[in-house]
Amino acid sequence: MKVLISDKINENAINLIKEAGITVDYKINLSEDEIVNIIPEYDALLVRSDTKVTNKILDAGVKGKLKLVGRAGVGTDNIDKEKARELGIVVENTPLGNTNAAAEHTLTMLLMLSKHIIHANDSMKKGEWDRSFKSSELKEKTLGLIGFGNVGRKVARVAKALEMNVLVYDPFVHEAKLNELNLTKVELKKLICESDYISVHVPLTKQTKNMINTKEFNEMKTGVRILNVARGGVINETALLNAINSGKVSAAALDVYENEPPTNTPLVKNEHVIATPHLGASTNEAQVNVAIEIAEQVVLALNNNEIKNCVNGLKKFR
Ligand code: MLT
Repeated sequence: MKVLISDKINENAINLIKEAGITVDYKINLSEDEIVNIIPEYDALLVRSDTKVTNKILDAGVKGKLKLVGRAGVGTDNIDKEKARELGIVVENTPLGNTNAAAEHTLTMLLMLSKHIIHANDSMKKGEWDRSFKSSELKEKTLGLIGFGNVGRKVARVAKALEMNVLVYDPFVHEAKLNELNLTKVELKKLICESDYISVHVPLTKQTKNMINTKEFNEMKTGVRILNVARGGVINETALLNAINSGKVSAAALDVYENEPPTNTPLVKNEHVIATPHLGASTNEAQVNVAIEIAEQVVLALNNNEIKNCVNGLKKFR
């Protein structure tokens, strides 16, 4: 059995798979063609978000032994899941290991959007002593959460502890999860119109692409603050920049972008935007968690033929 790991991953994953008697090749920064050339000899491909697992790679894999694509992380928008399903290649993710990291990154950005930490720090570094910065408090402000999965729920718990009002839009959420925090779900329009802060926590799919666009920005409160630590493309970047320039949006915090690295540089460089380079899951703890989780799943798949956390609807390996 052989596994190709094509993205940077914590070494625990490599060790765990090797200890199970499986050969591991760790080759990062390969081009699509380089992967196409070697993929037929592997039973599984293990990636994070840098490798784009295209239909060309999957087609090549299916001519050989490929039966599993494992994603160390939650988002699987970098993998052509439909094509994999057609070909009988199982796609698995690790739904839990990095959700705390993503929630903490969101909460950090939420606090930074309400306080002038960055600008005040820059001013101090210039040798200034400017006490004119006026922040605002999160207490009694309304936070709209679009998506109430593991990340959204953790953000909601802390936001409630900060005495924020929390509105949730999630058509798939079970009432029990909302009841745990004494929350009720609302229509997207209500959330858009009434929130002071809006944070998205949904995957990028055909349904969520450009979910927040010019129409939604127009309906928001003037001065609203926007967060995206989920996936680029859910919020339309051109519409967001226009909304910042018009004063509708007073600030935004972004960790993810339509293209990564981002091509919309006027947005990233805008003084009202706090930007980080897709670091939501980049804590030491989360990287160990997802590496171990996906490595265990690969071993289960290759040694025991067991499927865990499949995201493309397959029940057995080809
Ligand atoms: C995820 O989807 O797990 C995070 O965005 C982190 C990543 O892309 O590696």
